[in-house]
Amino acid sequence: MQNKIDDIQNHFEKELNLIENSDQLEEFRVKYLGRNGSISELFEEFKSLPKEEKPKYGKTLNVLKNKYQSLFDSKKEEISAKSTVSKSDIDFTLPGRERKLGRTHILTQTMFEIKAFFKNLGFSIHEGPELESDYYNFEALNFPADHPARDMQDTYFVADDFLMRTHTSPVQIRLMKNSKPPIRAIMPGKVYRNEAISAKSYCLFHQVEGLFVDTDVTFAELKGTLVAFAKHFYGKDVKYRFRASYFPFTEPSAEVDVWWQPKGKEGKWLEILGCGMVDPNVLENVGIDSEKYVGYAFGMGVERIALLRYGINDIRLFFDNDNRFLTQF
Ligand code: DAH
Repeated sequence: MQNKIDDIQNHFEKELNLIENSDQLEEFRVKYLGRNGSISELFEEFKSLPKEEKPKYGKTLNVLKNKYQSLFDSKKEEISAKSTVSKSDIDFTLPGRERKLGRTHILTQTMFEIKAFFKNLGFSIHEGPELESDYYNFEALNFPADHPARDMQDTYFVADDFLMRTHTSPVQIRLMKNSKPPIRAIMPGKVYRNEAISAKSYCLFHQVEGLFVDTDVTFAELKGTLVAFAKHFYGKDVKYRFRASYFPFTEPSAEVDVWWQPKGKEGKWLEILGCGMVDPNVLENVGIDSEKYVGYAFGMGVERIALLRYGINDIRLFFDNDNRFLTQF
């Protein structure tokens, strides 16, 4: 009898502490507290004890039973609080659910890459407001009021003197007003045009503006930088050309075209950016001495650059948020 009591005392609590789920708990209950469990067995044996031993063991057994019953009850509560599902309710053979990860939009990826390229060349990055005043968007960039060059950009006016910027060039003005040369920066952002929406044009798109102002900046340097950019983006065999153009804020001005050759179709030149030497009038407008300083500037269309690189034929795809398109990149 005493041996059995010792045995229970040695093992009951140790085993109880190891229990982790309701199946194990049930097994344990049967072993110790069930109708044929070891504690019931003790009571069975008690019946056949000699009379003189009964009082001693009677008390011990009752204390023992109560103690272990209450230990068991609190373990049971603990287990049922932890989980209402037992392991056997889970089907481990079910296939897992695939989680779809989000990804960076192809335009954002292109932006990242453009920024990284110019950062490596020592350009800093600046941003400006999308709602602009007429002064920054046009006037200071040498587009006088009523000048026909304003027709180059169909504008969303918000109030008489305020508009959604039609290009990122106004950020050049803000930057030059707020800092002293040398200035070497790119200015990425959204721009807005009041154009009929089609495969080729959208009311919103992205540009990256570039500006370098110092005492000895040359057109050759501008060309070298932009050719390096075209080669970085389209491979070293890219076919490109600089074509003379006109912008009110640069003189001389040029546009850069890249040859686009879709498979099995006729190829054509596609414009990716405008550029030129900053017009001395613009430098004077922002208080930079145009006798002492020269600058170059460029403005590129991010959608155009991506369209060309990935052979996308409709600008609207960038804005439709169709996963079948977006997940290809
Ligand atoms: N802002 C012009 C546009 O949106 C692009 C441009 C051309 C920017 C020449 C420049 C530049 O900085 O030098 O059409």
